[in-house]
Formats: sequence, C-alpha cells, structure tokens
Amino acid sequence: MQIPVLQSSASSIFSPNTTDNPLVDNYGRPITYLRLAVTDRCNLRCAYCMPENMRFLPTRELLTDEEMIRLVEISAALGIRKVRITGGEPFVRQGIMDLLWRMKETRGIEEVHITTNGVLTEKYVPELQRMGIASVNLSMDTFDAERFFDLTRRNEFASVYATFEALLASEIPLSVNAVVMEGKNSQDIIAMCEKTRTKHFTMRFIEEMPFNGGTHELPTLLWNHAKILAALENAFPNLERIGRSNHATAELYRVPGYAGQIGIIAGFSRTFCGACNRIRITAKGTLKTCLYDNGVLDLKTLLRSGASNEEVSDALVDAVQHRFRDGKEAEQHTQHTANHFDSMSSIGG
Ligand code: GTP
Ligand code: 5AD
Ligand code: SF4
Repeated sequence: MQIPVLQSSASSIFSPNTTDNPLVDNYGRPITYLRLAVTDRCNLRCAYCMPENMRFLPTRELLTDEEMIRLVEISAALGIRKVRITGGEPFVRQGIMDLLWRMKETRGIEEVHITTNGVLTEKYVPELQRMGIASVNLSMDTFDAERFFDLTRRNEFASVYATFEALLASEIPLSVNAVVMEGKNSQDIIAMCEKTRTKHFTMRFIEEMPFNGGTHELPTLLWNHAKILAALENAFPNLERIGRSNHATAELYRVPGYAGQIGIIAGFSRTFCGACNRIRITAKGTLKTCLYDNGVLDLKTLLRSGASNEEVSDALVDAVQHRFRDGKEAEQHTQHTANHFDSMSSIGG
C-alpha cells in the first residue's frame, strides 16, 4: 500500500528499540501522549486563533468517531498512554461525551484530558468527573467581561465563567489558559493570578503563537515568557519556582500561601521541546509529530483506503522515527510564512 506521506521530515539518526515501546522517536524519546483535535469548529472567534469569517471543514473531512477510536486503539497498542482531546471546541462536536467514554475505556489509555473554551461545558462537568477525566484545561484569557468580548468576539463570558466555577467546585484538576496579548489582556495578568489566592487551580499564561488562520502577522512577540515572569515577580516578589513536571509545557510557580499555582507556557520560544513526548492528529486526520511541522502523514486517507491496523501502525512508527529535533527545526523545514499559518482550531494547540 502507498503510504500518504506529506512533508518530508528529519532523517533517522539511529534505529530505536521497537520491542518495548515501538513509538520511540529518532532522538530516543518515547512517545506516550496523543493530542486529538475532534473538530475545527468553534463557538468563539479568539483573534489569536481564527478570523471572523473562518471557513470550517465539511463534516466528511473530519474523522468519524469510529476512525478516531480506531486510531486511539492503534496508538494505545504502540504505547500511547495519555490522550488530550482538543479542537476547535470539542463540545460543539455531536456525541462528544460518548466519544470521551469510549476513549476512557480503551485498553492501554491511562489518562484522558480535555482542552475546552467552556462555552458549553458547564452542564457536562458532573459527567466528566464521573468518567474520571484526568484534567480540564479551560481557555479563558481574561476575567473581565468586556475584554473577554473584545478578544473572543462573542458574548459568552457568563457561560465560560459558570464553567470555571463548576470546575472549581468539582474534583477535576483545572488549569486556565490565557494567551497574553499587549493591551488586550496583559493588564489582567496580576488580577488573574490573584484568583489563585483562594482558588485551587493553575493559572497559565501562554506566549502567542502565529497559528491564527492569517488574522494578523506576528512580527515580534511582545509578551514572551521572560516578560511574563518579570511582571509576576514584580507583583509577587516572593514568587517561588516549582519547576516543570515531566514533559509538560508549563513552567510552574506559586505565591506562598496561595491555594493555586501559576504557569508560563513558552509556546513560541519553545523552551521545552527537548523532552517532547507528543504527537497530534488534526481535525482533518493529519498526523503532526510537532506543532510546527506541516503534517507528516495523511491518516484519514490511509484509513479510508482500507489500510489494515498493522499498516496504520507501521506508518505511525515510521513517522515518529523521522521527527524533527524540536519546534525550531520543524519550522525551518516547513513551508509557511508568518501570516500563512493554519488556525490553531484545526491543529488543536
Ligand atoms: P498538558 O501538558 O497535557 O496539560 O497540555 P498543554 O498544557 O500543553 O495543553 P493545552 O491544550 O492546554 O495547551 C496550552 C498551550 O500550550 C497552547 O497554547 C498550546 O498550543 C501549547 N502547546 C501544547 N503543546 C505544545 C507543543 O508541543 N509545542 C508548543 N510550542 N506549544 C504547545
Ligand atoms: N497562540 C497560543 N495559544 C493559542 N491557543 C489558540 N491559539 C493560540 C495561539 N495563536 C490556545 C487556546 C487553547 C490552547 C489549545 O491553545 O487558547 O487554550
Ligand atoms: Fe475557539 Fe479555542 Fe480558537 Fe478561541 S482559541 S477561537 S476558543 S478554538
């Protein structure tokens, strides 16, 4: 069978041991984490992510539930243990809860997480807790209702805040994601941290990345991780560095005596690539072995051309044996210009 390889990627530097964990990349990194974008659709229009007139994929271009489950099963057999469901907004996909239950029940999958914008999520929180979702990352760039509207172009602050409160009241570990933008929410950084004084969650600040579907160019990053940290240290001179847990994107901090934590994600600076254990499948079924590559394997075409599980599995193993070393190398080999990047909504972050 002809494997639909997309972008040519890095050459293999050595042959990994394919018996224990077949998904070991060409730099010896075990791949145990799959990010799966279940839709590119979204009920918000965050400017850093997509234009107002975003064109979404026709449904037939998305993977079906059966295709996603099959890919998760094949991945689990190869050593994937953690799945994070992303989008677009996962909860706009019909039947998302059934899909989550099925992922949870997949043999080998130890943790299912989800990243959501919170617009539709509140009513699902009890069921998410019942199923044992491992964590929820809630995208919420500000706790100021007016600025929320300016950023997301939709009047959904109340529903997102209700989700925030429902998650806090639940036992589900919660992180809030805020992409920091000069003048749009940079003035809210400290107030957002103050929420961690009494509330048990992790408030994470993210460098803006250029995956905005062509909305605007990103000539220089005004709020990089160093500037975010300087603002935190200025407001909280006793800020303590906790560090980074294995394979995490966020560097964690805490204000002594506060209930929650604070995180900084250097997604643009890419300070954490060295230990990367992630692959992603985009909304249209493309495999990416780095957020910054162009897609290395067309899994949807492979599945729909009648490939056996073994063929799909072999194609995955082969793809991770040709990974780029890091996001900078992936970007160098990728044919896109700053304002030509995909929307994060099709990649899933
Ligand atoms: P966990 O470690 O599972 O909590 O995931 P996460 O925090 O990385 O995931 P989330 O979906 O909450 O994404 C938070 C931010 O990190 C988003 O802006 C993502 O685009 C960014 N991000 C996630 N994975 C990567 C990655 O591999 N590389 C880079 N550069 N950024 C990433
Ligand atoms: N830069 C950084 N993060 C982004 N996200 C969406 N677009 C961007 C971007 N251009 C974030 C969302 C969500 C996560 C999956 O990715 O806010 O929290
Ligand atoms: Fe929707 Fe998330 Fe993109 Fe905002 S960042 S428009 S919530 S997919």
